[in-house]
Amino acid sequence: MKNILIIQGGGRANGNTAQLVSSFVKGAGDAGHQVEIISLLKNEVKGCLGCNACRYGKPCVQKDAFNDMIPKIKAADLIVFASPLYFWTLSSRIKAFIERFYCIAEEDLTPPLGRYEKYPVKDCALLMTSADNYFWTFEQAVSYYKFALVNYIGFHDKGMLLAGGCGDTNGKPQIDRTPHLKSAYEFGKNIYCPDAAPV
Ligand SMILES: Cc1cc2nc3c(=O)[nH]c(=O)nc-3n(C[C@H](O)[C@H](O)[C@H](O)COP(=O)(O)O)c2cc1C
Repeated sequence: MKNILIIQGGGRANGNTAQLVSSFVKGAGDAGHQVEIISLLKNEVKGCLGCNACRYGKPCVQKDAFNDMIPKIKAADLIVFASPLYFWTLSSRIKAFIERFYCIAEEDLTPPLGRYEKYPVKDCALLMTSADNYFWTFEQAVSYYKFALVNYIGFHDKGMLLAGGCGDTNGKPQIDRTPHLKSAYEFGKNIYCPDAAPV
């Protein structure tokens, strides 16, 4: 049994992203994992101010929902980042959340090349929805995920579900007409299954 924390970085109530998350949660729950969803729409997290107070033993000067999330982040085995594709990348809410990892970084006296400090070691996964469905649709989002979360912060990637072709926001969510909800269920169910095919 793993402890899974899903950070839902926006999207409409019961929209494509919320439905994708919910299918993933059903699958993970059926596999016996404990899952919590934190919506960044309901829990505001502001971006880092770069004041560096945290580098001098002080708590983050931003007074928002992030501080209450820190124990949950530290307790999680897997953090799932869920977002609609906005302007070809992750939502600004998810990016603000990621920036705030700066205040939980710890000193690393022997950092690997290109890294300056160490972060809690976690598994991570990416769930995204979009209107378009071209081969380049998620390119920037995937690049950001890989560079910031996997290469820099050092999380271990457990996979991505890039749900393109869900319809634009000038209409009802259309993810239920795609195979993505079934894939999200299977992704959640098999994420810690060694024999499962990669998503
Ligand atoms: C501000 C904004 C920017 C968007 N940018 C893109 C985009 O760059 N590429 C794309 O394919 N869809 C884009 N979309 C469409 C959404 O990604 C898509 O409809 C998504 O599934 C909406 O998620 P939701 O139903 O959870 O709100 C955008 C929508 C909004 C509101």
